[in-house]
Amino acid sequence: MYRKIAVLFLAIVVFGAFAVLPAFAAEEAAHDYVGNSKCKMCHKGEKKGMIWENWLETKHAKAMESLDAEKGEDKNPECLKCHTVGFGTATGYNPEAPDENLANVGCETCHGPGADYKSMKVMKDRELAVAAGMIVPTEETCTSCHNEASPTFKGFNYEEALATGTHNKAAAEEAPAETPAEPEAEAPAETPAEPETEGEKDK
Ligand code: HEC
Ligand code: HEC
Ligand code: HEC
Ligand code: HEC
Repeated sequence: MYRKIAVLFLAIVVFGAFAVLPAFAAEEAAHDYVGNSKCKMCHKGEKKGMIWENWLETKHAKAMESLDAEKGEDKNPECLKCHTVGFGTATGYNPEAPDENLANVGCETCHGPGADYKSMKVMKDRELAVAAGMIVPTEETCTSCHNEASPTFKGFNYEEALATGTHNKAAAEEAPAETPAEPEAEAPAETPAEPETEGEKDK
């Protein structure tokens, strides 16, 4: 009897320890993180909407540069949980074995750990992808970090932040978010791209 109670008590202590991990880390542990380079393969270049290139220009892609290594901030869990991909989970960023594809606020920080949705078959089917852990971000995704727990917080405007914080240049220009449609193979590669006309081609 006493032994059973002791086991139960131990279980509560162990599970209790997990409960103090950041809420999003605990939830996402069901899928593994793969790192930005795996997403880059299929989401870079003009025809794919310049997702990779535009993300690289955001502050998210440089979030580790803001952490001062001399003060140990680059190893401080209190900072890493908002400045990396998946910190606090087994396959997320690990300061003891830093991986540049998990450093910074990367693809999977907003879209969820990708191991189970990154295959072409799953990716092409939004329902399958969501079932496999893909997140379609909402304002709540952003405010899980953009809140008073951030030492530098000065407020957050979702609409404005979408334009400069994700990878959506179109939103910045108030144009439709659709990828400019170039017919896959037919388009002659030599034609210099005219940014001004892309909006029209969209229709
Ligand atoms: C094998 C190629 C491939 C890989 C790898 C890949 N994707 Fe995709 N992804 C696609 C395709 C194809 C679509 C379908 C829509 C489109 O044409 O862009 C898509 C769609 C998406 C969408 C839009 C879903 C929706 O309906 O709103 C998101 C978000 C996304 N991918 C994120 C990621 C992330 C994050 C990674 C890395 C973990 C990743 N993808 C890796 C091919 C890929
Ligand atoms: C995992 C935490 C996290 C999430 C989720 C997150 N951000 Fe950020 N965001 C950051 C960090 C950290 C920085 C600061 C990067 C730096 O300058 O070092 C930042 C910076 C920004 C900036 C530029 C700085 C500013 O405040 O003007 C914008 C814009 C932004 N984020 C928008 C968004 C949007 C939109 C979303 C949701 C779609 C989002 N963020 C989700 C952590 C996050
Ligand atoms: C700060 C959060 C954030 C990060 C980081 C982020 N995304 Fe997104 N992503 C979004 C949001 C929000 C949307 C919804 C469309 C929009 O308004 O931009 C989106 C939409 C998409 C789409 C659908 C097509 C589109 O443009 O609407 C794809 C594909 C995608 N993201 C892939 C990626 C990849 C690949 C990376 C890493 C290079 C990445 N995302 C990084 C927030 C993010
Ligand atoms: C709750 C999430 C969160 C935590 C925890 C967090 N940050 Fe950030 N950090 C952000 C966000 C979001 C931004 C973008 C600006 C803002 O709104 O605070 C940011 C921006 C920054 C910037 C750039 C400030 C600027 O104005 O450009 C620095 C420097 C920084 N953080 C350092 C730290 C350090 C050091 C720690 C740990 C002690 C830390 N952050 C912990 C979310 C976080």
